[in-house]
Amino acid sequence: MALTRLDKFLAEQGLASRKELKKLIKSGRVTVDGQPALRPEQKLDPENSQVRLDGEPLRYARHRYYMMDKPTGVLTATEDARQETVLDLVTPEMRRMGLFPVGRLDKDTSGLLLLTNDGDFAHRVLSPKSGVEKLYYAVVEGNPSQEDAEAFRKGLVLADGTVCLPAKMEPLGGGRCLVTVKEGKYHQVKRMLASRGTPVRQLRRLRIGGLELDGSLGPGNYRELEEADLCRLFNLKVM
Ligand code: URA
Repeated sequence: MALTRLDKFLAEQGLASRKELKKLIKSGRVTVDGQPALRPEQKLDPENSQVRLDGEPLRYARHRYYMMDKPTGVLTATEDARQETVLDLVTPEMRRMGLFPVGRLDKDTSGLLLLTNDGDFAHRVLSPKSGVEKLYYAVVEGNPSQEDAEAFRKGLVLADGTVCLPAKMEPLGGGRCLVTVKEGKYHQVKRMLASRGTPVRQLRRLRIGGLELDGSLGPGNYRELEEADLCRLFNLKVM
């Protein structure tokens, strides 16, 4: 296991800002393997060193995973000078963990959004090679038909020539449908439905892989994912 700096290790636990952590370390409240650790740059083995703050052990949890029910009207970004972002909806401790959204939901799209500080995980969820499905519920103008569903199955070609992977569209009647895609091109679902003459009025993501949006959350709320959720996400056997 690669060694890491003490201040970086503590920052990843979301304890305080780097500046605050420097003071905290210098005050002698942190010990590593029983010895007071007074230098922020001190190296430690994040998996095997025993780090304590005021005598309390800190668990090693470098990577964090959350699901949020993203509300409409909020940007999927880590920061923005003018507009509210999904990271403005979480606690300062979480912001300090270096969380970022996994992929993007448009400002006017709601639903399941994953937040993590694990780049490899994000890549695995998003890469079309991984084949992780994303399920959307759409309210559209007009009424998607079985003919439209067949066009989705074959792979749509969008107005600008973009070729989409085969996807699934299930008409629900009353100008509503479910769309399942395995890739995440810019405005993909909206452009797919528009290409069939049924432009989107409302879009909500309900599921990623085998992980469903927790219906008890409510707009703007979030919760940490458990191991079973991560297994569901990648359709692994849940222990
Ligand atoms: N497809 C879209 O068009 N918009 C989203 O926000 C997500 C998928």
